[in-house]
Amino acid sequence: MSVIDEVKQKTDIVDVASQYTTLTKSGRNFKAICPFHSEKHPSFFIYPEQQSWHCFGACNTGGDVFSLIMKKEGLDFGEVLRHTAEIAGVTLPSRAGQATDKEKNDRLYRINELSADYFHQLLLTSPSAEKTRSYITRRGISNQSVNAFNLGYSPNSWDSLRQYLMERDYTEAELITAGLIIEVESAASHDRFRNRLMFPINDAKGRTIGFGARVLDDSMPKYTNSPDTPLFYKSSCLYGIDLAREAIRQQDMAVIVEGYMDVIAAHDNGFGNVIASMGTAIADRQVSNLKKLSKNIVLALDADTAGEEAALRGIIFENSLGAEVKVAILPKGRDPDDVIRESKDTWQSLINEAIPVMDYTFDRVTAGLDLNTARDKSLAVDRLLPIISQMNDLIRKSHYFQKLARLADITPNQLQMIFKNKAAERNHGKSFNKGNKVAAAPSHNILTSNPREEYYLSLLLQHPELKTLSSSIMPEYFENSENREIFNAYLSTENISSLKETLDDFIREHLDSLVAKSLPDKNLEGRLSDCILLLKKESLNLCVLLEKKMKLRIFLSTLLRPGLNLDYIL
Ligand code: UTP
Ligand code: MN
Repeated sequence: MSVIDEVKQKTDIVDVASQYTTLTKSGRNFKAICPFHSEKHPSFFIYPEQQSWHCFGACNTGGDVFSLIMKKEGLDFGEVLRHTAEIAGVTLPSRAGQATDKEKNDRLYRINELSADYFHQLLLTSPSAEKTRSYITRRGISNQSVNAFNLGYSPNSWDSLRQYLMERDYTEAELITAGLIIEVESAASHDRFRNRLMFPINDAKGRTIGFGARVLDDSMPKYTNSPDTPLFYKSSCLYGIDLAREAIRQQDMAVIVEGYMDVIAAHDNGFGNVIASMGTAIADRQVSNLKKLSKNIVLALDADTAGEEAALRGIIFENSLGAEVKVAILPKGRDPDDVIRESKDTWQSLINEAIPVMDYTFDRVTAGLDLNTARDKSLAVDRLLPIISQMNDLIRKSHYFQKLARLADITPNQLQMIFKNKAAERNHGKSFNKGNKVAAAPSHNILTSNPREEYYLSLLLQHPELKTLSSSIMPEYFENSENREIFNAYLSTENISSLKETLDDFIREHLDSLVAKSLPDKNLEGRLSDCILLLKKESLNLCVLLEKKMKLRIFLSTLLRPGLNLDYIL
C-alpha cells in the first residue's frame, strides 16, 4: 500500500466534511449544503463507502478526501498530504531532496533575475545593441515600457551570459536547468539567446522565470522561448500578469491577447489590464491565477486562427473559471498591437462589444450552413451538441440547449432525446464497455484507486502522441486526487521527466507505477477513445441526474402547496 493510500485509509471523509458543513444522513450516504457555494437546498453528497464526495449543484464536481480539503483550504496536494498524514499519525518517509528543492529554486530565480538585468543593461548601454534600440523605437515602444517590462538585448555571442553567470558561482548544470544555456554533445555548451530582443517573463509576483526572445529581422523562428524548467511552464504563465494585476483587479476585467508586443502596445496606451497567453492554448493553471483577480475575461482573438478549436478551448476555460468568457474578434490580418496603435477607440469598442464564447461558437459553426435545410440543421446539432454538453454551468448550458433547439426548429425535449440517443449510441458496442451497459455509479475504492482513470493515464503517459486526442478531457473528470494532479500537470509539460519535476514526491511514486503498467500495444487510439467516453459518461450521468432532479423539483412545486420543503421528497 502506498503511503498516500495509507493516509486515505486512516482519514474518514465523513469526519472531514462534517467540519465544513452539517451532514444529514440520506440512506447510506450523507447530504449537506455545499461548503463551496451558497445554496438553499443540499446538493453536496458524501459517499462513505467510496470515501468520495460530489456536489450536484453549481460546483458539479467531486473527488476524494484530498480534493475536498484542497478545494476548501486552498492548499496543494503535497500540503494536504502532509497535513492529513500528521493528523492520521502516518509518518511520511523523509525525502532528502525536499529541503533543498527550495534552495535550488531560489538559485534558479536568482539566475533568471541576474540574466534579465544583464540583458537590460546591455540594451540600455551597449553599442552593440544599437540596432535593437532603433527597432524598439520603430515599433513605437516607450522608454517607460522598456523599463517596466525590463526589455533587454542578448549579445551576439556564444557564451557571454554563460561566462557572466559562471563568474558569479552558478554552475553549468544550473544554467542548463534554467534553460539559459544549451548543452551540446561533444562540444562546449552555449548561450540559448543570441542577438535578440529579450522579453523577461515574470510570474504574478514579478519574479522572472523565463524569457521570450525576438529576432530583429524576418528570419524564423520569430521567437525563441525558454524551455520548460522547474520554474517555467509556458502554458501556465501569462505574460504581463505582474504589471497587469492591479488594473485587472480595479477594472474587474482581464483581456488576454496572444503576443508580447500586443501586451506592451496595450500598456503603452493605457490598457493596463492586458496580458498574453504567448501563443499557447490557455491552460487551467493560468486561469486559477487569474480568477483570483477577476472573473471577467475577454479573449482577443485573431480573425484567422479563432476557429472552432479556440471556441472549444473557451468552454474548457469557462469551466475552470466558473464564469462566462467573452471573445473579441480582431479585424482580419491585424493584431492588437496594430489596432491599438492605430486607434484606441477601435480597441475599446472591440472589447466593449465582445460576445460570449458560446454565442461566438454558434456563429462560427452556423456561418456556412443553410439552416432552412434538413441536412444543415442536423449538421449544426451534430457540431454544437457535443460542445454544449461540455459546459459545466447548468443555467448557461440550458440556455444554449434551447438556442440550439430553436435553430434546428425542434423542441428542447426532442433535442434532449437526440442527446440521450447519441450518448447511448456512443456508449454501446464499445469493447471496453462490453457487458456493462448500465453505467456504474461513481465509485471509488480507496485502496485500489480508480482503475479506469489509471488505465487512461497509463495510455497517455506511455504514448504521448495520444495527448492531442485528449483535449476534451477535463481534470474534473478524475475522482482520484493523485490522478487529477498528474493529468493536470501532464497537460502543461512536454515529457515525463519534466512532469516529474512538477509533481510532489509522493505522487511521483504513483506516476512511476502508471508508467510501468503493462498495456496492450494494439489499437491504442480505440482504447483511448473508449476511456475518454467512459470518463465523460460518468460525469455526464451525474449531470443528467441533476437535470432530472431539477425538473422534478419544478414540476412538484407546481403541484404541491407553497412553502413545502421539497428536500423531504427529493
Ligand atoms: P505573433 O506572431 O502574433 O507575435 O505571435 P507578436 O508578439 O505579435 O510579434 P510581432 O508583432 O510580430 O513582433 C504571438 C505570440 O506567439 C508566441 C510569442 O509569445 C508571440 O508573442 N510565438 C510566436 C512564439 O513563441 N514563437 C514564434 O515563433 C511565434
Ligand atoms: Mn504583432
